[in-house]
Amino acid sequence: MKEARCQLELRINGDTRLANAYPTDLLLDVLRDSFGLTGAKPGCRNGDCGACTVWVDGQPMKSCLLLAAECPGLEVTTIEGLKGGEMQRAFVEQFAFQCGYCTPGFIMNAEALSRLQPPPDEDTIRDWLQSNICRCTSYEEIRLAVREVIQRRSEGKLAEEAERLVEDGSGGMKGELNG
Ligand code: FES
Ligand code: FES
Repeated sequence: MKEARCQLELRINGDTRLANAYPTDLLLDVLRDSFGLTGAKPGCRNGDCGACTVWVDGQPMKSCLLLAAECPGLEVTTIEGLKGGEMQRAFVEQFAFQCGYCTPGFIMNAEALSRLQPPPDEDTIRDWLQSNICRCTSYEEIRLAVREVIQRRSEGKLAEEAERLVEDGSGGMKGELNG
């Protein structure tokens, strides 16, 4: 006898969405089939290729390894919900894809990596990206794109920090002069 469907209330890209799913349905399939969010791709379906990567509560997870029924109460973010296209642009500029099937998974994983503090070094970037497989292009271009964004963001943060220190310093100086 076929199991019964159940109604799941899921948080997807900041919205509450309802899905009528079987208890054994994968998050990957519910995202694609119930919500039309086809950015997460079915590749190996066993946790090896990373093409299905989404964020769950801000952490990159393989959506083929999660049941949708495990996700009520968790914030799921897919490539469609990612704000800002800096990483996507870097992939285009560095020719870091060919067929593009693996690209959304790489970008979700790389975006999570780029938020690490302190900014990841070369070895960490290399290790982190090992959870995604690309069959077409060179990993060197992918790493180049990711490294470029991480570097740009960390320089931006350093510049902000330097600006803040200058502001604090001049404030202190004014205080002394006025005192
Ligand atoms: S489809 Fe999920 S890791 Fe390959
Ligand atoms: S660009 Fe085709 S699998 Fe990566």
